[in-house]
Amino acid sequence: MSSPSSSAYSPSEKQTKQGLGWMEWLRGWLYLVYEMLFQRIMASHLQNPLPLPPLNDLTCIVTGSTSGIGLEIARQLAESGAHVVMAVRKPKAAQELIQKWQNEWSGMGLPLNIEVMELDLLSLDSVVRFAEAWNACMGPLHVLINNAGIFSIGEPQRFSKDGYEEHMQVNHLAPALLSILLLPSLIRGSPSRIINVNSIMHYVGFVDTEDMNIVSGKRKYTSLAGYSNSKLAQIMFSSILHKKLPAEAGINVVCVSPGIVHTNVARDLPKIVQGAYHLIPYFIFSAREGSRSALFAATDPQVPEYCGVLKADEWPVCACISHDCRPMNASEEAHNLETSYKVWEKTLEMIGLPSDAVDKLLEGDVVECRYGAKRE
Ligand SMILES: NC(=O)c1ccc[n+]([C@@H]2O[C@H](COP(=O)([O-])OP(=O)(O)OC[C@H]3O[C@@H](n4cnc5c(N)ncnc54)[C@H](OP(=O)(O)O)[C@@H]3O)[C@@H](O)[C@H]2O)c1
Repeated sequence: MSSPSSSAYSPSEKQTKQGLGWMEWLRGWLYLVYEMLFQRIMASHLQNPLPLPPLNDLTCIVTGSTSGIGLEIARQLAESGAHVVMAVRKPKAAQELIQKWQNEWSGMGLPLNIEVMELDLLSLDSVVRFAEAWNACMGPLHVLINNAGIFSIGEPQRFSKDGYEEHMQVNHLAPALLSILLLPSLIRGSPSRIINVNSIMHYVGFVDTEDMNIVSGKRKYTSLAGYSNSKLAQIMFSSILHKKLPAEAGINVVCVSPGIVHTNVARDLPKIVQGAYHLIPYFIFSAREGSRSALFAATDPQVPEYCGVLKADEWPVCACISHDCRPMNASEEAHNLETSYKVWEKTLEMIGLPSDAVDKLLEGDVVECRYGAKRE
């Protein structure tokens, strides 16, 4: 894998940027259409399902694994021998899935090593409780897959009980908090990986760190803006996390694009659009096809090497892997390191962590979070 190509970005040019330039915006939409039309051809070299090596030594957490891409990721990791923790907001639904998978698996060897833990990303208290419970086991964590996400298409703007716009909270803030709080376990599991299921939609996103909730009136809220901004924020935050983690820590951070995938993510689409969605199966990936980039990022031995090259080159963006399991060049805006640092700082403030949280955790110190049981 070689570094993706990039153009030069001048920090001073970016200082007063108020939104995407129309060329950037147009390019973003062209990428989206291109991905939709050609993803199947671009990924035609991949098998489905993606063959995985034996994973008996891995412990993996998969968020949002009761539906769509996350369900496929969890099942395939478990069937390859990994110990999988389904981190979900509906534990009963996850237990039922496990029962079904165990029944279908029986007679083919040992039972699947899979369990359920409750996690609601709309509550930062829930994230802290999850991480505290996990870290208390003192076990290693090898792979954290931040898969859960929402795209409430056409819905009015909503806020979590923590006061944050819901796309920003579920798709970026809560996974960021989870990743940082689980660092002690990821260090124990090193070499380990944080995989963020991102989206090509980050290409049309723009993050205003002064207005993460899109409430100032500077720009109009739409669910599309909420979703794409949250996905861009995740790439920018991940890029700084990737820089802050020293190579010796052995923790790699990767963002993946699953492609355009037929899942429940379309549940909020108007009925007429859902109908059209069903009519174009040729172009759209199945959830199993959409799980391949995350599974590749989580298990392929070339990935840590690729992350190491980007780190050594001081590349402004963390490793990004496309739906075809090849390196992906993130959007031009994602290369804006100055904004990425602002997103980093703002995110830590919003999730209630001190600005030196990562350094402290790497040194083995305890970090206090504004959220969680201690606040209650
Ligand atoms: N489908 C696509 O075309 C596409 C394209 C690019 C990126 N993605 C990304 O892929 C990821 C998976 O999405 P998907 O397409 O598989 O959609 P999906 O079928 O709707 O699955 C989303 C999962 O996230 C979980 N979730 C939602 N809100 C949550 C919360 N507050 N706390 C905990 N879990 C929560 C859902 O739980 P429940 O089962 O309880 O509802 C569900 O399991 C998302 O990050 C999405 O943005 C999807």
